Amino acid sequence: MSDRPAADRTIERGEGPGSADVDSVVILDFGSQYSQLIARRVRELSVYSELLPFDASWNEIAARRPKAVILSGGPSSVYDAGSPHPDPALWTAGIPILGICYGMHLMAQALGGEVVSFQRKEFGPAVVSLVAPGGLFDGLEAEQQVWMSHGDSIRRLPEGFETTARTDSTPYAAVACAERKMYGIQFHPEVVHTRHGREILRNFVDIAGARRNWTPANFIASNVEQIRRRVDEHSRATGTDGKVLCALSGGVDSAVAATLVHRAVGERLTCVHVDHGMMRKNETELLRTAFEQLGVRVIVVDARERFLRKLEGVTDPERKRHIIGNEFIRVFEEEAARLGEIAFLTQGTLYPDVIESATSDKEKAAAKIKTHHNVGGLPDDIAFQLIEPLRYLFKDEVRAVGAELGLPDSMVQRQPFPGPGLAIRIIGEVTAERLDTLREADWILIDEIKAAGLYRSVWQTFAILTPLRSVGVMGDGRTYANVVAIRAVTSEDGMTADWAKLPYEVLGKISARIVNEVPGVNRVVYDISSKPPATIEWE
Ligand code: XMP
Repeated sequence: MSDRPAADRTIERGEGPGSADVDSVVILDFGSQYSQLIARRVRELSVYSELLPFDASWNEIAARRPKAVILSGGPSSVYDAGSPHPDPALWTAGIPILGICYGMHLMAQALGGEVVSFQRKEFGPAVVSLVAPGGLFDGLEAEQQVWMSHGDSIRRLPEGFETTARTDSTPYAAVACAERKMYGIQFHPEVVHTRHGREILRNFVDIAGARRNWTPANFIASNVEQIRRRVDEHSRATGTDGKVLCALSGGVDSAVAATLVHRAVGERLTCVHVDHGMMRKNETELLRTAFEQLGVRVIVVDARERFLRKLEGVTDPERKRHIIGNEFIRVFEEEAARLGEIAFLTQGTLYPDVIESATSDKEKAAAKIKTHHNVGGLPDDIAFQLIEPLRYLFKDEVRAVGAELGLPDSMVQRQPFPGPGLAIRIIGEVTAERLDTLREADWILIDEIKAAGLYRSVWQTFAILTPLRSVGVMGDGRTYANVVAIRAVTSEDGMTADWAKLPYEVLGKISARIVNEVPGVNRVVYDISSKPPATIEWE
């Protein structure tokens, strides 16, 4: 993600999960690459935060009953014609405001100060010296390591404002009007390079009086209530029993969504897991047991044969993806039809998907590298209403909610797994035998990564069955057998990734075990490509 004009982004204006018991902070997005990160950082302080487009009206903002507003940075200059500005009503609303970079310039300009293009543009690390302690900098030392990225600067402060921090190149690294609880900072507190960014944001939410009560337990309580009300109302209005359906992939998102909905509607929820045969070892069984223990009804559809038949002779990656995606929808629809009238479908959509799906279609089309198949990837004309309880959560929050709901660690902490499963990790044709080979190799790999305590520090770890065979020697005999590749990557969000620098001893153990324990494999190689230019999955 990079800075782009705020006008090109359309962030959802929906209702938000709002609850009278939870305080919130609204972040107005002026196009900074860090806007989403600001929202995450505020939530890490246990304060609910939501991104809204920069041109949200004051009424839309006020509908969230926020305790404060944060104005993000952005690529524009406040003095340029057509640059994004917020609803002017914001400035007189009496609400605490924190302007970050471009957000600070907006505030300075709107309140009577002056912003100009800066001769000494600053990008990267910088040290700011505090001029006035307290306020945003309460409890911090006089010199602070921060991250700057700006080409403009304040030249004249609005009335009532004072400068609170400076750098060698600008006297206005931070400004404040404590009386109106309005603060501006030229640097980015949301990035880790600003060493005490977290404390600065915490001071701001405290000054604003936002209670830090955004917790998994609160989220669960208010959502369960909302979902129950919605389904009940629908049942009453239609005279039906309001059946809810959920597709379980085995991944954390659908598992948490299903569990939450089950709390709300109990027996009225039916989960369907389509076993397409591309799952990892024991995965389907684990899922079945975990949900049975929670008392959730799960129908496991054994469609393994059916998928294998469809994939016979297919080697092209995109064709594999299409076949699996289409077949999945077919199986799921057949199953749904068997269950009778369904009112709602539950999906595990997350907040980043909601924000990202706002990207223009053109941009999305240009960036299409692979056709992603998600278990939630059902056709647009589907007749159910959607329940998307995770729509406002980030991935780490989903995990915390899952743990609070009592889902087992093995499910909550699970690494991402692609919808088409092992099919896109077998290069060439997918057969039952090759699936077994890969499943065994993958199992050993995960086992060793877990034993080394590395499972949670890497984004994904998996094995790939290559179409290569190579010569080896085992005992006194020559072998000519499969080459397995292993991939381990670190990543924040899967958009970019680096290959993980796994310790040699761990790699050695994985290799030795795979070659010794998996029939038909005599060589293991380690993938040392980053994304870009490679992708995480091989197909
Ligand atoms: P790539 O291979 O594009 O993968 O670098 C980025 C992330 O997305 C996952 N992935 C998928 N997830 N359906 C999914 O739900 C898919 O079709 C799919 N393809 C890739 C991949 O595992 C990685 O985490």
